Amino acid sequence: MSLDAYIAGLPKAELHLHIEGSLEPELMFELARRNKVAIPFDSVEAVRAAYDFSNLQDFLDIYYAGARVLLTEEDFHDLALAYFRRAAADNVRHAEIFFDPQTHTDRGVPFGVVAEGLLAGMKRAERELGVTSKLILCFLRHLDEHAAFDTLHQAEPWLDRIEGVGLDSSEIGHPPSKFQRIFERAGQMGLKRVAHAGEEGPPEYVSEALDLLHIDRMDHGNRSMEDEALIERLAASQMTLTVCPLSNLKLCVVKDLKDHPVPEMLRRGLHVTLNSDDPAYFGGYMNDNYRRLAEAVGLTREQVTRMAKNSFEGSFLSGGERAARI
Ligand code: ADE
Ligand code: ZN
Repeated sequence: MSLDAYIAGLPKAELHLHIEGSLEPELMFELARRNKVAIPFDSVEAVRAAYDFSNLQDFLDIYYAGARVLLTEEDFHDLALAYFRRAAADNVRHAEIFFDPQTHTDRGVPFGVVAEGLLAGMKRAERELGVTSKLILCFLRHLDEHAAFDTLHQAEPWLDRIEGVGLDSSEIGHPPSKFQRIFERAGQMGLKRVAHAGEEGPPEYVSEALDLLHIDRMDHGNRSMEDEALIERLAASQMTLTVCPLSNLKLCVVKDLKDHPVPEMLRRGLHVTLNSDDPAYFGGYMNDNYRRLAEAVGLTREQVTRMAKNSFEGSFLSGGERAARI
């Protein structure tokens, strides 16, 4: 069996997926028409042609603009279901998906519209596709602590159906320390905690995410590889890293997939998983990330199997639930 076919057949969990980043241009156009929202593109091809990014901020500007077509519960339901259908085709059995409520509430879309729509899509995906999922509320780190507290307050009626909180958006200039108190509060409320760290930001941000935010899982973590003591710490604690190769390529975190740090991370004993981040913008879903990285750096079948196993071990499924997914 070829490695590609082996990858396709492996059960996998996706742990780093921004649901707004799964908005394909075709659905963007459909929702723009349905909601009578103007978008600055003439065609699906023109949208795809605009997806040429030099860094994270370049991408975020377009990603937030794209999200403007999402207005109703039905829109969020359709967005989620489209992602789960695509993920199921890649044999993703479980997904822990991020959403950015502030991107929507700041445009006047109520928190409940976003949450109810996504939760309905998640429920339907479990029923129709057998893909289970959990929801992670991300705070936008370019906004302030007060806005994050306000968002957590708005989320209160849905917190029994939200697994945890995360931290995303522009990393440089917005260190984890800015969100220490909201993460402390989320921990007291029994929520899991994850954060993007070391995508563009320095290793010090990774240490802060560990020491000040007390994260249960780290998103990206690439720049940890610049700090020997940090590598040893991450290996010793078996902290799960949700690494996103095609995202790293598109956002110029790596110049070439051949330079990707995953082989070195695995060699150093880090608990690495592969994920698609914002697949509609970065040109590939789960299996594309595995295949293209495998081709570029020469992953072995054992390494691929290890990362797929890590994805279930690093998930927030309980032991029993986990066994039922594999
Ligand atoms: N929001 C969506 N994708 C992101 C990424 N890769 N990094 C930070 N914030 C994001
Ligand atoms: Zn991300």
